[in-house]
Amino acid sequence: MTAVLEIAGVSKRFGAFQALTDVSFEVQEGETLGLIGPNGAGKTTLFNLISGFLSPDTGSLRFMGEPINGLPPARRAARGLVRSFQKPMVFPALTARENIAMAARQRAGDGLRWLGARRALEAAEARANRLLAESELGRRGGERMADLSHGEQRMVDVLMSLALEPRLLLLDEPTAGLARAEAERLLEMVRRHDARTAVVLIAHDIEIVFGACDRIAVLDLGRVLCCGAPEMVRAHAAVRTAYLGALADP
Ligand SMILES: Nc1ncnc2c1ncn2[C@@H]1O[C@H](COP(=O)(O)OP(=O)(O)O)[C@@H](O)[C@H]1O
Ligand SMILES: [Mg+2]
Repeated sequence: MTAVLEIAGVSKRFGAFQALTDVSFEVQEGETLGLIGPNGAGKTTLFNLISGFLSPDTGSLRFMGEPINGLPPARRAARGLVRSFQKPMVFPALTARENIAMAARQRAGDGLRWLGARRALEAAEARANRLLAESELGRRGGERMADLSHGEQRMVDVLMSLALEPRLLLLDEPTAGLARAEAERLLEMVRRHDARTAVVLIAHDIEIVFGACDRIAVLDLGRVLCCGAPEMVRAHAAVRTAYLGALADP
């Protein structure tokens, strides 16, 4: 197994508030790791540390075997460490296809520059069309973002992340506000896209997380309570206490 991401002894404090304490775990190539925990547990803060929007006070982060402490977010993204935000970052006046094509062009960057502007644009649009077709959103690609449903907008946001060809994709509540079936379709599409892509998924509906993830890490008060296979996590006494009966019996 190849570790895409190695987090070792990471801590983060905001003033007097200790948001994360000694967090360690690894994410393997191709796996989907669920990150769950109550509101305020530190999940989004951990994403900010992994993606480089914040620096850890202690501890180290390695991506594809290389240290990334101190590397700015854009450089991490260029290496394939891609995140989505809790609120979708899309251009509402553009169509779904245009939004995805913009992301595809960003990824292509220098690689497509020699093609010339027009062909680079066409290549990005072709990639956007392939992604749209994969998602079953194909026929809606010409709609302006503002005219899409909430679920469709979420889907486009995730397709924009996939257009960046991530090796590791951090998804912060991509299924918020979606019906369970819609959420499952979205996650299934992510898994189908590229089997090598590792995913870290934050989601509130823990049944969705248990259904979609190979392993699950539980954060509580900034510490990793446990990390392992879904059935192990489901049976873990402290996790059951933290979730107060929200977990069905194993
Ligand atoms: N930039 C910040 N400055 C101060 N406190 C913060 C900052 N970011 C997050 N926090 C605090 O850290 C804790 C964890 O927040 P967050 O990582 O957003 O939790 P989660 O995503 O698990 O709900 C919360 O108490 C939050 O108020
Ligand atoms: Mg959060």
